Amino acid sequence: MTDDPTRDASPDPAERRAFGRTGLTVTPVCIGTSPLSSMPALYGYAVDQDRAEATVEAVLDGPFNFLDTSNNYGGGSAELRIGAVLRRRGGIPDGFVLATKADADPDSGDFSGERVRRSVEESLERLGVDHVPMMYLHDPEYHVTFEEAMAPGGPVEALVALRDAGVVGHLGIAGGPVELMRRFIRTGVFEAVINHNRWTLVNRDAGPLLDEAVARGVAFVNGAPYGGGMLVKGPDAQPRYAYRDTDESVREAVRSMQRVCAAHNVPLAAAALQFSLRDPRVTSTIVGVSEPARIRTTLDLATTPIAPELWDELDRHTPSSEGWLD
Ligand SMILES: NC(=O)c1ccc[n+]([C@@H]2O[C@H](COP(=O)([O-])OP(=O)(O)OC[C@H]3O[C@@H](n4cnc5c(N)ncnc54)[C@H](OP(=O)(O)O)[C@@H]3O)[C@@H](O)[C@H]2O)c1
Repeated sequence: MTDDPTRDASPDPAERRAFGRTGLTVTPVCIGTSPLSSMPALYGYAVDQDRAEATVEAVLDGPFNFLDTSNNYGGGSAELRIGAVLRRRGGIPDGFVLATKADADPDSGDFSGERVRRSVEESLERLGVDHVPMMYLHDPEYHVTFEEAMAPGGPVEALVALRDAGVVGHLGIAGGPVELMRRFIRTGVFEAVINHNRWTLVNRDAGPLLDEAVARGVAFVNGAPYGGGMLVKGPDAQPRYAYRDTDESVREAVRSMQRVCAAHNVPLAAAALQFSLRDPRVTSTIVGVSEPARIRTTLDLATTPIAPELWDELDRHTPSSEGWLD
């Protein structure tokens, strides 16, 4: 923190803080790996193996101790690329928290307990480890109802058994729909929740989930503070929000925000990132990257001084809730 009186209360991005009740400690910034898995349909560009591995190396050498991936990013290529680096380094470095996610079968959509056990086996094999500290159930909304997820023989029961057997350290739930995520954390099974694209400069859907996570001692992890790129690259370079076409009103709001930020000499991306970092209910914010240099830039964006009045000005340009996702 700085003594500069114009500086708002964003945390030191390299501090370590409690990750809910897990006993793990994480930095307020987590690095996300969906862009580096190479998913041109989502991000608009391909990423080759060397660039991806160099990015993972930069994460492990950098100030943040938290890396987020999943079984299905790039059909498994994110885990393979991370695994290649971990093998060279002799495993997950001490004090580093690696999180991955159990996914439905990519061909059949099966999300049974049996599939979850296979998903976890695949992840361990690709990552080259025999244990991961954090495992989320990933995007159940596309494959199963809440009741199916929680039923005997279903994916949650399988994850609990894997945790009890010590194969994974802690369990989390990850997905989009806010009310569904609230139902999952009320079960008491999950120690962390990832929600994405719904607590940003242009979308505030996740408010009730943030409050409920705090009340239950569940770590809230905010994915995609840039909405998948628009709030860092700008709406002309990245016209989509949350990996889908969006209303022109959202792009217009972002252009207005760019102008307001420019008048304060603050990059829009700094405001987008610190919007999440400064919220005391957010345990960690996942920034997706696919370039080694992004680690340094992320630190710079997280520590750019922002005058308190800029937040009020940005609030005035927040699109109405019709432009949100849920
Ligand atoms: N259901 C879920 O569990 C879920 C859903 C969404 C996200 N997530 C997690 O959250 C992470 C973040 O989401 P996201 O990656 O989709 O979206 P994001 O973090 O909002 O944005 C990622 C985009 O921002 C760009 N970017 C980041 N820093 C930049 C910088 N300093 N300068 C220019 N461009 C920059 C990246 O570009 P480059 O590729 O050029 O670096 C990428 O295009 C994911 O990677 C994933 O780990 C989880």
